[in-house]
Amino acid sequence: MDKILVHGGQSLSGTVKISGSKNSALPILAATLLTKEPCVIHHVPDLSDIHYMLQILSHLGAQVERASGVVTVQAEKIGTEAPYEIVRKMRASVCVLGPLLGREKEATVSLPGGCVIGDRPIDLHLKGFEALGAMHRIEQGNVKVFAGQLVGGVVNLRGKLGPTVLGTDNVMMAAVLAEGTTVIDSAAAEPEVVDLANFLNAMGAKIEGAGTRRIVIEGVKELHGAEHSVIPDRIEAGTFLVAGAIAGKEVTLKRVDASHLTAVTDALVRSGFAITVNGDSVTIRGNGDPTALELTTEPYPGFPTDMQAQMCALLSKARGISVITETIFPQRYMHVSEMKRMGADISLNGPTAIIKGVERLSGAPVMASDLRASAALVLAGLKADGVTEVNRVYHIDRGYELIDEKLNGLGANIERMKA
Ligand code: EPU
Repeated sequence: MDKILVHGGQSLSGTVKISGSKNSALPILAATLLTKEPCVIHHVPDLSDIHYMLQILSHLGAQVERASGVVTVQAEKIGTEAPYEIVRKMRASVCVLGPLLGREKEATVSLPGGCVIGDRPIDLHLKGFEALGAMHRIEQGNVKVFAGQLVGGVVNLRGKLGPTVLGTDNVMMAAVLAEGTTVIDSAAAEPEVVDLANFLNAMGAKIEGAGTRRIVIEGVKELHGAEHSVIPDRIEAGTFLVAGAIAGKEVTLKRVDASHLTAVTDALVRSGFAITVNGDSVTIRGNGDPTALELTTEPYPGFPTDMQAQMCALLSKARGISVITETIFPQRYMHVSEMKRMGADISLNGPTAIIKGVERLSGAPVMASDLRASAALVLAGLKADGVTEVNRVYHIDRGYELIDEKLNGLGANIERMKA
């Protein structure tokens, strides 16, 4: 297994280009299953999660071609079963359920298990499919959804921990080919949901209200091929902003949509950093140690759970005591024990992390546990004394395109040791 060695203490400056959004690209690629015609998707990041999705599409019978960030998919004839060997590697595989149900009225995907960030149920996805007249069965670890006919319905997708992003995507993808009108209340309003809706509309769907809590979908008979450019990855962008805050003199991000980042930029400004936006660029200027913050993760446009670990890394050296409360995945704190091994002073009280800023962090061998936790350990390593050895970096490669090369391009000193 590859590992990353971060030699701390370098200061970062310069420009970095942000890749296309992983969490947009995954459901958009799944949505190409809704038509027999070719679809061309631009700005698809080169990540292992994307490779898994392309493998699933190929397994289902689609022709997939990929050349430098552009993916072409033609799903002329498709099967309805996604294989366990690939699905088990990536929870987001569940988002082929919606398009397969929409087009073939049937889909079987192995049931995603829990993962290190907490329990990952799909009850809300199934509730949405039921509202369209589908039934489901759990058999041998698989979930099978099926319907004689899909008919528009009304569904409220709010769970006890808020709206569901992939659940909203899934129901939207099934409903575009249902008969009549579907209303999704308490829909997720994340930019990735809007990006998917824009792609589906480009394919001939009739979706209104994406980006609000109520999405209305008027079913159509069929969809056609379309070309689409995936939005910039707001979490990769946020991660590089935090890198700039932790170790930067002046770092500029290119190909960013700053309007997707306001919760993150707002938190960084409150913490004492200067941020300027210029078209599709955002610049952060370092300002020594940050000021402590209180933060709560919330559905968009609130502070994203996918940036919580990175903020823990930043605030571990803040002046004062910070308090972070995680409301989306209350157990998403695997990075905390690893950061403590680097000298951070963090205690957990249920979903709340209390972070007492320390003078210095020191490099240590640490274990990556999930995607964002791994990125946070690399960020902490940028400011730690000595060398931080991040093991199991395959987690980071699931969601960050060339993070080590991009950080080195800004002046970091990171080595990747091949296994
Ligand atoms: N939930 C339910 N029932 C469901 C679905 C979700 O109770 O049927 C709960 C979840 O357990 C969680 C909350 O609802 O407590 C929100 O989960 P959501 O369904 O929104 O998460 P997701 O759609 O599975 C996506 C991203 C995650 C991101 C979350 C929240 C993708 C591929 N994944 O997951 O991204 O954290 O939304 O914004 O889009 C990551 O990129 O590192 C990542 C984990």
